[in-house]
Amino acid sequence: MTLRAPRDPGAPVSLSKNGDRSPVARDDAPYLELAGIRKTFGRFEALKGVSLDAARGELMVFLGPSGCGKTTLLRIVAGLESQDEGRIVQGGRDVSTVPAIGRDYGIVFQSYALFPNLTVADNVAYGLVNRRTSRETIRSRIAELLKLVGLPDAGPKYPGQLSGGQQQRIALARAIATSPGLLLLDEPLSALDALERVRLRGEIRALQQRLGVTTIMVTHDQEEALSMADRVVVMNAGRIEQVGTPREVYEKPATPFVADFVGKINVLPAVAEGSGRFRVGSVSLALDHRQDIAAGTEVKLYLRPEEIGVHVNGHAAAGALAAKVAKVEFLGAFCMVGIALDAAGTPSLVANVPRQQVDAGRLEPGTAVRVSLPAGAMRVLS
Ligand SMILES: Nc1ncnc2c1ncn2[C@@H]1O[C@H](COP(=O)(O)OP(=O)(O)OP(=O)(O)O)[C@@H](O)[C@H]1O
Ligand SMILES: [Mg+2]
Repeated sequence: MTLRAPRDPGAPVSLSKNGDRSPVARDDAPYLELAGIRKTFGRFEALKGVSLDAARGELMVFLGPSGCGKTTLLRIVAGLESQDEGRIVQGGRDVSTVPAIGRDYGIVFQSYALFPNLTVADNVAYGLVNRRTSRETIRSRIAELLKLVGLPDAGPKYPGQLSGGQQQRIALARAIATSPGLLLLDEPLSALDALERVRLRGEIRALQQRLGVTTIMVTHDQEEALSMADRVVVMNAGRIEQVGTPREVYEKPATPFVADFVGKINVLPAVAEGSGRFRVGSVSLALDHRQDIAAGTEVKLYLRPEEIGVHVNGHAAAGALAAKVAKVEFLGAFCMVGIALDAAGTPSLVANVPRQQVDAGRLEPGTAVRVSLPAGAMRVLS
């Protein structure tokens, strides 16, 4: 359902540091501010004090495993669920206790949630009709919106006559019909097949940027999050683990959870030997940038599969380690190569190797190789 409150008259109001309402619009002020949001269901703590800012026009993605609290947080932003504690400020207006109907957003759910007995045009018009807009304005607005989502001729059809992807485009048109300040999307793509999901995620991102509407999208699909977001909010068990650009959360995961959850990663248990050296099994690695970790400290080294260089003996870079291929799995564009660093032959690393390189080096179980583990790409988390 599309909900929209009348806009505040005059200039946007923002909150100054001491909490006073000031009529001065600050463009650098966050459009949406969440502070200390807590929510319990019975004795279960679904959100354990979440604080977060979204900039105006930003697409922010809540990413996390099932049950971590993504939908609950989104519903609290929408006023569809009330928080036990915490504050929500949107466009400078404290909406913490404002009911859903009085807030300024459009929302799209995972299941298409269109009214099956209304035509597409009437579905899109739903929020506009409620606001007593003139018939002529509504007609031209529907045409504009249907064109915007790439379905200019769908108006007279019923939702049941459309594919899942088409229905989500209509749900999107309905959500933005009233030009809300905030667009909320809860797993809008997860009911669609893989191809349609990729197509529609590109369309949603393009539309969101064109409209400049501040958007929060919930997903548990990391590829979706990385490809669409300005910033990703990685959540786990009712808390935020990290907020960062897609590259930041991928390249510089702040916690072991983020490293494991976002993308594939190798985890090597290691012991610091001091002066930036770390022992992994029988191998000693130099990570000059982590000289701060005292000898004897147990740590974990994290390294992405695509960072590992695999060389057939004789062509190795200096400092590469002797190893053996334990396993080769063909995955299309590249192969996932399991590598044993120790004599036991159990794969302790996984590297992504382009198919051509696998062929050229005749990589197969047992092939002797040298692997380079770039120190700069290695994260140390304890
Ligand atoms: N109305 C409710 N009553 C009781 N428990 C609830 C209620 N809503 C959510 N929960 C619980 O709160 C936790 C967070 O739920 P939420 O729906 O926010 O998870 P999510 O991150 O959106 O997960 P998913 O990816 O599966 O949609 C879950 O453990 C869920 O069972
Ligand atoms: Mg959910």
